[in-house]
Amino acid sequence: MKIYSNFIFPRIYDCVMDKPGWYKHRKKQLESAEGKILEIGVGTGLNLPHYPSHVRQITTVDPNPGMNKKLQNRINQSEIEVDQKIISSEELPFEDEAFDCIVSTITLCSIRDVNQAVNELFRVLKPGGRFLFFEHGASPDPKVANWQRRMNWIQKHVGDGCTLSLDVPKLFSSQPFSSVEMDTFYLNKTPKTHGFMYQGIAIK
Ligand SMILES: C[S@@+](CC[C@H](N)C(=O)[O-])C[C@H]1O[C@@H](n2cnc3c(N)ncnc32)[C@H](O)[C@@H]1O
Repeated sequence: MKIYSNFIFPRIYDCVMDKPGWYKHRKKQLESAEGKILEIGVGTGLNLPHYPSHVRQITTVDPNPGMNKKLQNRINQSEIEVDQKIISSEELPFEDEAFDCIVSTITLCSIRDVNQAVNELFRVLKPGGRFLFFEHGASPDPKVANWQRRMNWIQKHVGDGCTLSLDVPKLFSSQPFSSVEMDTFYLNKTPKTHGFMYQGIAIK
């Protein structure tokens, strides 16, 4: 399975995900990013070109070293300095309240113990800090949700651990954020099972 995760998945990832249809969502998600920023599950760095120009430095975590080659290329083309850590977000080596802003795009679905990860992310976020998220998850349409559950086993393999039926609102309600605002919508030109999106900001 490591061969798929470390060699094959990183090679197919950009072919599927580096599409102009995603750019406007990434840009919108990142427009309020500021201060000390932590991006989790940075992957191949597809967010890097979409940070606002005032962002000069970010810290990233991702446990898959296979994503590195493409990430390095994007870092080289970017003016943002990246402090990259090849680790999981379930256990972060940062002090409490270390970051003003946390960014997560299409990552929570892939984290093995996502409740523990959100617990850690809440810990390292400053009071008043923003958690910017753009994630796919469980559809409220029971027919689509059924298909998501049926397809989860194959998605886990093809998507390197990704689940289609993450309950994003429940996840954010598990921590005492002072506010959580989110929009939900289906992505254009994407199967409903894979494209029910949760885009929002949770403030600590
Ligand atoms: C679907 S990719 C998303 C990549 C990127 N965020 C994007 O928007 O294109 C999911 C990423 O989450 C990473 N990931 C998996 N488990 C993780 C964990 N426990 N902590 C942090 N990142 C993780 C994967 O290695 C992968 O790079």
